[in-house]
Amino acid sequence: MYYITTAIDYTNGAPHIGHAYEKVLADVLARWHRMCGEDVYFLTGVDQHGQKVQQKAEAAGMQPQEYADMVTEKFIALWKRLGISYDGWAATTDPRHEACVQRILTNLKENGCLYKKAYKGFYSVRQEQFLTDKERNEEGVFGPEWGEVIELEEENWYFNLSQHVQWLKDYVTNHPTVCEPEFRRQNLLNAIERSFGVDLCISRPKDRLSWGIPLPFDPDFVTYVWFDALVNYISFAGYLAEEGAGLPDFNKLWPAACEVIGKDILVPAHGIYWLCMLHAMGFPDEAMPRLLVHGWLNIKGEKMSKSLGNIVDPNDLCDVFGAEAVRYYLVRDTKTGYDSDYDPERLKMIYNTELANDIGNLTNRSLNMCTRYCGGRVTVAEGDDELSAALRKNMADTVQTFSAYMNADNTADAFAALNAHVGLCNSYIEQKQPWTLAKDEDNMPELQRVLAHLLECCAQVGYLLACVLPDASSRILSQLQVDVAGLTPQSLAWGLLKDGHTVQAPSPVFPRILSEEEKQKMAEKAAKAAAKAARKAAQQA
Ligand code: ME8
Ligand code: MG
Repeated sequence: MYYITTAIDYTNGAPHIGHAYEKVLADVLARWHRMCGEDVYFLTGVDQHGQKVQQKAEAAGMQPQEYADMVTEKFIALWKRLGISYDGWAATTDPRHEACVQRILTNLKENGCLYKKAYKGFYSVRQEQFLTDKERNEEGVFGPEWGEVIELEEENWYFNLSQHVQWLKDYVTNHPTVCEPEFRRQNLLNAIERSFGVDLCISRPKDRLSWGIPLPFDPDFVTYVWFDALVNYISFAGYLAEEGAGLPDFNKLWPAACEVIGKDILVPAHGIYWLCMLHAMGFPDEAMPRLLVHGWLNIKGEKMSKSLGNIVDPNDLCDVFGAEAVRYYLVRDTKTGYDSDYDPERLKMIYNTELANDIGNLTNRSLNMCTRYCGGRVTVAEGDDELSAALRKNMADTVQTFSAYMNADNTADAFAALNAHVGLCNSYIEQKQPWTLAKDEDNMPELQRVLAHLLECCAQVGYLLACVLPDASSRILSQLQVDVAGLTPQSLAWGLLKDGHTVQAPSPVFPRILSEEEKQKMAEKAAKAAAKAARKAAQQA
């Protein structure tokens, strides 16, 4: 079973382009593994507890649950729009999840992994948090942004993280695939070095924060939001679930083949807390998940933030460009693991070149010529030539390269490889000039061969695109009249189109995205044509 998850999105605000990138990346990988014939379970969801949700709800005059539900709806609507094909939905206020977190806490306490301790420190009343020396400004004091700062002594529950760090260091050192790409694993190893000797506070007193899962053994406290949230990967996979809970069979899913997360939550949350939590729960080394860590989408080199007012709402992009254009851009222009800049001009440019011009035109022209010159009938016959043989070989090589990149979670290079093959097809058309061949009846065999080669490439490329452009892919395949049921990338071989196969006349799958200027020109042209037609009609009358 290929169990793939993403971070659960925090319901303290609206979804943005960074959330969309992570979800689309995971979706493309999930669809890819399904195409490969694997049994895939894709889990995503929302993180609904915590202080920020409680504060936002208060500010909005709402109950925390009401507020979390409202934001959750926005995420669900966006994932539907973007075609995110998740199988399971993790919402942390789901009673099945709460029960699982409580069972885990009870077990950990019984095994001596939790203890209660008083902590005395500086506390910001306004921000409702303890302050450390990191929060002091250059003058060595807590600045006015913290409001009133008092000394506070508070009892809390702690998880004995420090007892697991040596194990973690050894584990991460000896298991290169625990965290990919490799440079992120190095970040993690450095962070582990700095985290010896500290335990993790896993509770908040109820009088300070009530919006959380109550500790089963101490009702004055709720669970720290990260401890709660991280458990989603196993609670919604059926860990310690009651029979009939409607959750998957844990033994079939776990360990997760891929947990897709952003770089900001690798350290300490996933790379340190999560792996140590699992270790404390008794999960052996073989049952540790694999973390796939992606970078951040920035805006013109700057972090997206409310204060900069540069937050990009993916819904606006879908309105303008369509969901599939957004999907393609996100996984094509961002190299997995690395930061990238969100740039709507690049979105337009990549769509117009790679989709509208390259694969779109290739399919259109090929279908069009087959319809015009051969009545839509594909003829596969003996006989070969050098260019055609090279095109065939390149198609097979591309399937291999594409698959290898996808299996390495490298979507950007996978789609680049596919696009390079489409480029070769387009230069094959220029070299072969089917329209010239069509002028002479004697050239019919070669014309048929050229068209058969082109259409076969369109079919294979169209099929492989299904993981990123499910809708466009099925439209391409239906115009080609190709049935890919039961096909896998591994079994993909030359010959999807048999001799005598018939295709449909083309209808464009990727209409160009026009600039405002181009739109205006088109409108002016249309207006002129309409005026001319009106004049003509008036003259005739
Ligand atoms: O961190 N570019 O939630 P979140 C790319 N609830 N990815 C980004 C991004 C950006 N600009 N901004 C955020 C949380 N992300 C927790 C997770 S998991 C048990 C709990 C990514 O809504 C971020 O890295 O702040 C994370 O993986 C995901 O979006 C959710 O972020
Ligand atoms: Mg965050």
